[in-house]
Amino acid sequence: MSRKGFHIVLWSGVGAVVSILGVAVPQGAAQEVTYARDVAPILQANCQQCHMEGSIAPIHLTNYEEARRYARRIRAKVADRIMPPWHIDRTVGIQAFKNDRSLTDEEVQTIVSWVDHGTPLGDPAELPEAPDFSDPLGFQLESDFGAPDLVIASPPYTLEAETQDKWYRPLTETGITEPRWVRAIEIRPVGADAKTITHHVLAFLQQDEEESEYTVGPLITSARGGSMGGPGLFMEWAVGKEGEIFPEGAGKLMLPDSKIRWELHMHAMGRVVEDATVELGVWFYDRDDVPENRTRLRMFDARGETGLDIPPGEVAVTQQYHVLRWPSRLENFQPHMHMRGKVMQMEAVYPNGSQEVLSRVTDFQWNWHVNYIYADDAAPLLPAGTTLVITAWHDNTAENPNNPDPTQWIGWGDRTVDEMAHAWVDVTYLSQEDFEIEVAKRERMADDRANRNQNR
Ligand code: HEC
Repeated sequence: MSRKGFHIVLWSGVGAVVSILGVAVPQGAAQEVTYARDVAPILQANCQQCHMEGSIAPIHLTNYEEARRYARRIRAKVADRIMPPWHIDRTVGIQAFKNDRSLTDEEVQTIVSWVDHGTPLGDPAELPEAPDFSDPLGFQLESDFGAPDLVIASPPYTLEAETQDKWYRPLTETGITEPRWVRAIEIRPVGADAKTITHHVLAFLQQDEEESEYTVGPLITSARGGSMGGPGLFMEWAVGKEGEIFPEGAGKLMLPDSKIRWELHMHAMGRVVEDATVELGVWFYDRDDVPENRTRLRMFDARGETGLDIPPGEVAVTQQYHVLRWPSRLENFQPHMHMRGKVMQMEAVYPNGSQEVLSRVTDFQWNWHVNYIYADDAAPLLPAGTTLVITAWHDNTAENPNNPDPTQWIGWGDRTVDEMAHAWVDVTYLSQEDFEIEVAKRERMADDRANRNQNR
């Protein structure tokens, strides 16, 4: 809150104003918030990737005229922390993420002040240069890793202009001829039309594996069998999600003759979309760089024993437990619900009985399946025997602006008007020895940080 001369407004996690204090405007009002100096850099860094020609958002925010035209809407979405899409609860749980694209409190305040003070342009000479964006429909990880080492495309599918939701489950050869360890993966629908109709994509990796500690062993079977979380699920993609990057020393393993079993969930957009495809981009570790630990995508259900049962006009809570039988590091948290999804929480109950909320998404938006990827020094390290408690809240009242019909009873189902309740989590299973090494590393990092702070 270093900006002088304006009202300082603090926003709580739920977006309500908790305090307002007036600060005297200094002589000459040199600190007036302007588009050119203050707002344009924020929009460039945090919004334009999506809000530009050819990208996914309906409005463009690439110049002063556009920003001014949509100023009220920008203020509302930013102050409520709906935009940029990053809906993690800031008041509880882990807050260090690799892909955090949220605004700081100060940036939010800059935008709010700018709108409240009549959206001044300021000195055009201060306008930043237009950034050079990568193709908004391309692989986003390309900017970090270059082009993928392997691209696997789903067979083309033509979707009618108007039809029920479709699920397409073709099988594609990966073409791999030797075992390769994967350090990053990303799925992208090809082109704007495919992106519009694709609700989610699952890519299952099918390959022959000897049953071993690394294949069948380290699986946590949930009460419902957890078949979705078997060794084969490679990656899940839904609107708003980016790629997955595995931490050093961990990755997924692809074997010769492997295949991808796709599941594309699509909904019609009012005109025919011909030959829609999605692509799976894969980045490998170098051949001589073999990671010690294997990461698996797990589906942690929150359905509970009774399943999903959401009466009309009510908020329903469901919960399910998952015991981790092996020492584990959780790499991310990605809640999956549909239109009535409201809150999802992932909590750890340690073998000694202590409890800790790891992450909670409070303002879940069904059209944003954001994957919250933990920073390397924050990814939870959980001893064997830890229980993960996943809790989901669904709001089937008329208060929920995303609710298409609060008079309906809602149960579990594939369509977006049905519901789901699970978290997708990449779990890296560790040997007890590696687990202890990782824990010791973490403690050293924490000590170093404490020392640095002390020496300041
Ligand atoms: C990851 C992509 C992405 C980023 C980053 C992003 N937006 Fe958005 N934004 C969207 C999409 C897609 C929509 C339309 C769907 C929706 O509302 O969820 C949208 C909707 C909006 C709307 C409502 C538009 C309308 O039609 O009323 C506003 C305003 C907005 N965004 C502002 C911003 C601002 C300001 C930022 C940066 C501080 C930002 N967005 C960052 C993708 C993004």
